[in-house]
Amino acid sequence: MKLECKGLTAGYRDMVIISDVSVAVAQGSVTCIIGPNGAGKSTFLKALMGLIRIHDGDILIDGKSIMPVRTEHMAQLGIGYVPQLSNVFPSLSVAENLEIGGYAKTGASIDDVLELFEVLKSVLRKPAGKLSGGQQTMVAIGRALMGNPDFLLVDEPTAGLSPAIAGTLWGYLKRLAEQGMGICVVEQNVRLALANSNDSYLLASGAVRLHEQAADLAAREDLEGLFMEAELQGQS
Ligand SMILES: Nc1ncnc2c1ncn2[C@@H]1O[C@H](COP(=O)(O)OP(=O)(O)OP(=O)(O)O)[C@@H](O)[C@H]1O
Ligand SMILES: [Mg+2]
Repeated sequence: MKLECKGLTAGYRDMVIISDVSVAVAQGSVTCIIGPNGAGKSTFLKALMGLIRIHDGDILIDGKSIMPVRTEHMAQLGIGYVPQLSNVFPSLSVAENLEIGGYAKTGASIDDVLELFEVLKSVLRKPAGKLSGGQQTMVAIGRALMGNPDFLLVDEPTAGLSPAIAGTLWGYLKRLAEQGMGICVVEQNVRLALANSNDSYLLASGAVRLHEQAADLAAREDLEGLFMEAELQGQS
């Protein structure tokens, strides 16, 4: 199964931020979206989720259009989303945060989530806001997993975390892909993203600048130059 968008053009009200973006996310693999600050990575995920205005293009699951996209239908369609910021309810307990995730569509149990994120077992009754950054990210991902999604969209899961915890989180995402899920991750750490992904897209100024197998992109000697070019493109 595949989640894809074709020629997606979207933004905030009349302002277009991403243009003609075509991306495919296959089940059983990890696709990363990299690009400089302000490139439109978060905007891209928000467009897929129907959170912002789509001006043009199509979003399809297994070749079937799901347009017009309705955010409230995405869980039913098998798509989970972990936004970049404010992704846990800080005053609710970890268990409550997870239970909320099963509200739109059940299928997974808290036990399934705890099998993956074992470290959350001992903090289930703690307010999520009192956990470490890495554990809060696990709660946010766990909440999305409670809907038993076929595809998971994750926006910068490792921002602000130590390299060790970032590596651990990527390990979890890869494990989910190995179990058959289609994972799409926006990541600011380019090397980390490429080392852990199958497919990769470089976004610059709201457009796909490059689409390559992650291993191929990681092996390119001009990778840093390409990234700087993308950065400059955003500033001009
Ligand atoms: N709610 C909003 N209303 C208007 N413009 C916005 C809004 N959110 C983001 N933008 C603009 O859209 C552009 C892309 O922002 P976006 O957050 O998608 O970038 P990003 O690639 O996720 O960057 P970062 O790496 O900093 O998270 C930026 O110019 C930003 O100012
Ligand atoms: Mg962002």
